Amino acid sequence: MADDRPILMFDSGVGGLSVLGPTRALLPQASYVYVADNGGFPYGIRSEAEIAARVPALLGRLVERYRPRLVVIACNTASTIALAAVRSALDLPVVGTVPAIKPAAEQSTSRAIGVLGTDATVRQPYVDDLSARFATDCAVLRHGSARLVELAEARLRGQPTDPADYRAVMAGLLGQPGGDRIDTVVLACTHFPLVAEELAAAAGRPLRFVDGGPGIARRVAHLTQDQDWPAAPTGEAIFTAPLEVGAPLRAALAERGLGRIAIL
Ligand code: DGL
Repeated sequence: MADDRPILMFDSGVGGLSVLGPTRALLPQASYVYVADNGGFPYGIRSEAEIAARVPALLGRLVERYRPRLVVIACNTASTIALAAVRSALDLPVVGTVPAIKPAAEQSTSRAIGVLGTDATVRQPYVDDLSARFATDCAVLRHGSARLVELAEARLRGQPTDPADYRAVMAGLLGQPGGDRIDTVVLACTHFPLVAEELAAAAGRPLRFVDGGPGIARRVAHLTQDQDWPAAPTGEAIFTAPLEVGAPLRAALAERGLGRIAIL
């Protein structure tokens, strides 16, 4: 019997598309509701209290409205601050996005890894905890960048971005004491894989980039493995505040199966 319930993915903006991509590749039979909280964007410069108040309440509303089978918080900032609160408020599986420090530590040969996230994410105790559990013998250097989130949003809207901006971001990480030893960089903000090529070019030397998208896709596939699917899967992008959706953004959404666009 067909089951029309969608998978709901949530981010402050277009970053969660880096999670939707690998998830759709594994589960093309699913319907997706992708929610961009552009009304609250950017999360990375907000306080813990603001995120903790906003995200569970908004997700509660979204779950009532779209009745998903599962929620993915495709945002490191929201997950590292509010995942536990969202899980206890919602009566369905919630998959979070946390910095991919474990796979990075497994792959690093120099035993020095970088964590590139939003300012709010890189200061979370969650990052200390992941480093202590999975990267004990690694130096873990962090850098927070709000600029890189803006660059990724601009890139998806087809706007030109300046290579010097990406170089400045990479210098903020690699220029720290010990940064020259980094061989693996965790993209700990879902916006950043969308500009991975630009970051690789800006690094000036070969680096391995790791993000949570593929792991989340596998987790979602595992949690839904015995379920039925819609007869005709759909994809919808929901924005929480009015915006101009130009042709490049519309195309980027359509490319990822989000053919319908609506405002909450
Ligand atoms: N994409 C989000 C993350 O993974 C946050 C971007 C922002 O709104 O600052 O952290």
